[in-house]
Amino acid sequence: MKVGILGGTGNISTSIVKTLLRLGHDVTCVNRGQGGPVPEGARWLQIDRHDQDDFEESMQRERFDAAIDMICFTAGEAASSVRAFRDVGLFVQCSTVCTFGIDYDWLPASEDHPLRPITDYGRNKAAADAVYLEAHYRDGFPIVIIKPSTTYGPQQGLVRQIAWDYSWLDRIRKGKPILVCGDGNALHQFLYVDDAALAFAGLLDKPQCIGQTYNLVRREFMTWADYHRVAMEVLGRSVELVGVPFANLQAYHIPEFDICEEIFAHHVIYDPQKLFRDVPEFQPSVSLAEGMAQVIEAMDREGQIPDSDEIEWEDAIIAAQKTVVPAGVAR
Ligand SMILES: NC(=O)c1ccc[n+]([C@@H]2O[C@H](COP(=O)([O-])OP(=O)(O)OC[C@H]3O[C@@H](n4cnc5c(N)ncnc54)[C@H](OP(=O)(O)O)[C@@H]3O)[C@@H](O)[C@H]2O)c1
Repeated sequence: MKVGILGGTGNISTSIVKTLLRLGHDVTCVNRGQGGPVPEGARWLQIDRHDQDDFEESMQRERFDAAIDMICFTAGEAASSVRAFRDVGLFVQCSTVCTFGIDYDWLPASEDHPLRPITDYGRNKAAADAVYLEAHYRDGFPIVIIKPSTTYGPQQGLVRQIAWDYSWLDRIRKGKPILVCGDGNALHQFLYVDDAALAFAGLLDKPQCIGQTYNLVRREFMTWADYHRVAMEVLGRSVELVGVPFANLQAYHIPEFDICEEIFAHHVIYDPQKLFRDVPEFQPSVSLAEGMAQVIEAMDREGQIPDSDEIEWEDAIIAAQKTVVPAGVAR
């Protein structure tokens, strides 16, 4: 199958390209060339999707059998992709579970749960998905929407609960305590990029999936505290988890705290039954410990783990937390 992928050198998209090549597809990566070379065996088209006319004309000329859009973030970009890929047999939009928001009527949330996005990212992705679905109902545009939750891999690094920060891995190595939000018991799902790629690849020859939306997560979920403990096992050192109430964390103005506020502080778990039913190729097999080990190795190679001794905020918050005297305890 001749497959076009918008992206192809990013966190998830690199694994998708490698999986498609392994399955014998003819793969073209469409990107600006800023994110490094495309995986060996793939073809590269240097295009910026924001050069809209060039992008749409080039894509129409390609006549892909199927296409995947990894970088569609707005209704305008979705409308452009609908024009660009109007002749493909099947088109996958990589959306996000952030379209659901954080206020749930039931958990795990299935695809038909109401959408209540709370961030511009979630709102714009939801608007993009709506453009695709409207094009499907109006003109038969062959859309399949896939909504990943946290999908981690060597290119992105290992996230933590309270901020977009990688120094926590160095803190574990040095035996320093790390912060969690509240009791660290917010539930989350973690999927390795190579496992996510199986779902994207498995969809491409399934016209029966057109018009459908799929959550992309493992069945398993865990608390953030346990997630951090798995990292400790991988790194071979156990450290204390220090819980701080959400409102207090908020008041400390931690750098890159938004991700905690918007997602990681909350129970956000999704139901993947529909994906397992319709795409049997989606069989996640990389355990969190295995995936973490691979990512940490890559982060070390790329020098992505900062020296925690040069970052002060976490020690300062932990010190302040430990001076708080519980009610009823005399000094
Ligand atoms: N990782 C997660 O946990 C997660 C969770 C939910 C949803 N998602 C979704 O997953 C997608 C991200 O996938 P990813 O991680 O594989 O991609 P990525 O890391 O965001 O990489 C972006 C890719 O797109 C290319 N690109 C960026 N801007 C471009 C432009 N203007 N024109 C053409 N190409 C461009 C980049 O190459 P150049 O820079 O060279 O152009 C690169 O190949 C997003 O849609 C995101 O919303 C991710």
